[in-house]
Amino acid sequence: MREFDFIVLGSGIAGLSFALKAAQKGSVAIVTKRSSSDSNTAWAQGGVACVMTGEDSFDLHVRDTLAAGAGLCHEDVVRSIVTEGPTRIAELTGLGVHFDQRENGNGTMEPDLGREGGHTKRRILHARDATGREIETRLLERIAEHPRIEVMENHMAVDFITTGKLGYAMENSCLGVYVLNEATGIVETLRSDVTVAATGGCGKVYLYTTNPDVATGDGVAMAWRAGAVIANMEFVQFHPTCLYHPSIKSFLISEAVRGEGGILINERGQRFMEHHNPQKELAPRDIVARAIDAEMKRSGAKCVYLDITHKPADFIRSRFPTIYETCLQAGLDITKSPIPVVPAAHYQCGGVKADVNGETSIRGLFAIGEVACTGLHGANRLASNSLLEGLVAAHRAFEKSTRGKRERVEISLPEWRSGQVQDVDELVVISHNWEEVRRLMWDYVGIVRTDKRLQRAATRLRNLHAEVQEFYWNFKVTTDLLELRNLVTVASLVVDCALSRKESRGLHFTLDYPERDDRRFLRDTLMRRV
Ligand code: SIN
Repeated sequence: MREFDFIVLGSGIAGLSFALKAAQKGSVAIVTKRSSSDSNTAWAQGGVACVMTGEDSFDLHVRDTLAAGAGLCHEDVVRSIVTEGPTRIAELTGLGVHFDQRENGNGTMEPDLGREGGHTKRRILHARDATGREIETRLLERIAEHPRIEVMENHMAVDFITTGKLGYAMENSCLGVYVLNEATGIVETLRSDVTVAATGGCGKVYLYTTNPDVATGDGVAMAWRAGAVIANMEFVQFHPTCLYHPSIKSFLISEAVRGEGGILINERGQRFMEHHNPQKELAPRDIVARAIDAEMKRSGAKCVYLDITHKPADFIRSRFPTIYETCLQAGLDITKSPIPVVPAAHYQCGGVKADVNGETSIRGLFAIGEVACTGLHGANRLASNSLLEGLVAAHRAFEKSTRGKRERVEISLPEWRSGQVQDVDELVVISHNWEEVRRLMWDYVGIVRTDKRLQRAATRLRNLHAEVQEFYWNFKVTTDLLELRNLVTVASLVVDCALSRKESRGLHFTLDYPERDDRRFLRDTLMRRV
């Protein structure tokens, strides 16, 4: 067993920001299941929403966030995250992160703020179209310099170690985590009084996603097994514009393209968003994604198109270099041709229920960033609010976890015991089951839902769950098996939450209950394992 003052699971903006702060107070282990730069953060193109000028205001940013969230945002949380933004951004730039600047006409420089859907002002700080990569790179540079931080790459968290699971009759407390060392195949025991889940979201639960392969919902699934309260998993955000291309999967076409004037057209070259919402292409994402879905179903086309060719080619190349180059490699010059796009799973608005300090219903277990459901996003996240939340929540969790003296729970932790058998045939079944989960979620639990389809998904997931449990208890654990187990758990949570919400709101749209029902459902969906 190894012991640390802080254990952080995940190496995106929330986890790395927390680790850097926590290292001022003690030893930190960052557990990350691939290389440390594999995270959703690194893939974020758009940027960080933050009030930066006198033309904007905290009230307006709060108002836009609440409007997108369709009644379920917690206004106190929204206000606190929005108003803390500028201070946290200043810290980030102090760590070397560079956001694009522009000359303001008086010979001085100011932030070059982008615009995205649902925002009534330009307020998106960005580094061209690779903002997440810039943040991730600078934070990892600072982490590498820090003597008190140990980064454990290729280590996959298996389960939280809690007093509840160990059978103690006391307040359920987290004592650490079991992690699989991929190089040795051994499950190691890490102990800490403060364990921080910053594991990101679950895009890989769907067949088509803008997320990297690591986004398998690990933190939510582990927290669920440990008995934590999980909230609002029905609200999965589909990004309207993922590149539609046979050989390039999961490539996002940033909302900033629409923010800079890009328009959506169908296969006949007709603009269609004006029939769906007065904000047209800059309506909140749920509306744009549903409009594209409807357009594709109506015409039978496999995609729609995002057209920015009316902008000067030089502007397109310098503002969107990553998108330009990636599309060019696929044979598409976006300065000359519209970009084929489809909606794809992008962001998990629900998660482990946590307050604005990241505290969960399990003592000593914090959840920050996409894995957490703090009440910021409500039923639909406003674009670029998530990197901001990651930053603010990391700071809050650091303050909360280091304030006062934490009472230590004196319990010795058992070592991990696992099955011994490894059967190559079963590995094939694991990969088939992976495909099955992702396909059935796409087919039955997508942008437009019905009770019948959700029930169908629930039945299949129950069978898959039984199969995965059998592997889990009998075979040696591997990363693939652990991820599959987590995917099945998270998929079931999405379905169960969706089935319990008999209305349509934000990202949850069902043909059986197409209206919003504030009388019965103006509340979070809460789930806890019994
Ligand atoms: C984008 O660039 O469109 C992604 C921004 C976000 O999801 O917040």
